[in-house]
Amino acid sequence: MKNISAGGAMERLKKLIPAGVQPKFSTADEWRKWQTEEGLKRAAEVDKLNQTARAEKILGRSGIQSLHQNCTFKNYEVKNDGQRHALSLAKSYAMNFGNGFTSFVFSGSPGTGKNHLAAAIGNYLLARDSTVLIVTVADLMLRVRACYDGGQSEASLLDELCRVDLLVLDEVGIQKDSKHEKIIINQIIDRRLASMRPVGILTNLNFDELAATLGERVVDRLKMDSGMWVNFAWESYRNKVTHLRLVK
Ligand SMILES: Nc1ncnc2c1ncn2[C@@H]1O[C@H](COP(=O)(O)OP(=O)(O)OP(=O)(O)O)[C@@H](O)[C@H]1O
Ligand SMILES: [Mg+2]
Repeated sequence: MKNISAGGAMERLKKLIPAGVQPKFSTADEWRKWQTEEGLKRAAEVDKLNQTARAEKILGRSGIQSLHQNCTFKNYEVKNDGQRHALSLAKSYAMNFGNGFTSFVFSGSPGTGKNHLAAAIGNYLLARDSTVLIVTVADLMLRVRACYDGGQSEASLLDELCRVDLLVLDEVGIQKDSKHEKIIINQIIDRRLASMRPVGILTNLNFDELAATLGERVVDRLKMDSGMWVNFAWESYRNKVTHLRLVK
């Protein structure tokens, strides 16, 4: 009977390889191993593409709002020690992403650059093929409500939100006393931390206010795996821009 094993195929393949080209494999076993590895690589690429598409599908937009798509560590101006500290923590967060699942909270007054540095982290990670979603709690709640209206399950939305590599919840605590909001945020944080995926929180609330809004338990959980709390306590950058315009 004719030999149609991989060994035979290997011999035929070798005949097709032009002289001077060194094949990546010289035995049928090496060839099979190479095929398996290539297959795995391709599957990982497809998976990443699907993840990015999914992240974009959740909100009908890219993971970072266009307003903050140009925010980087480089264009974050440092004028005081607080900003220097915040920039250095944000940078090291991005560079160490994937080692552990550290969460972060950027807390402080308006216009101090919380979104800027969160977007800088996000843009850094997106450029390295991680999936990132920065969403305000208000937008998130709109999505949750749209799920109810569209007959889609809230669980599938939460599933999607829990799959992205980094989820940043923005403007946490703006709507006070919303029980539903508290439950949804708690669920998201619980589920992400349980599957070892970090959460970022951007808020105007201080530690006690955030704990009162979300509950002690969830704030405690954010501290797991050396979670990072950064206070943004300096003048608004927005005031500065207005001031510059007035001077001109
Ligand atoms: N240190 C900085 N260097 C350069 N640009 C900055 C700096 N701080 C803030 N900005 C810019 O100022 C604007 C407001 O900053 P940002 O949106 O990050 O504020 P925020 O802390 O998220 O405020 P809010 O609490 O109101 O949401 C953005 O366009 C941001 O890029
Ligand atoms: Mg903001």
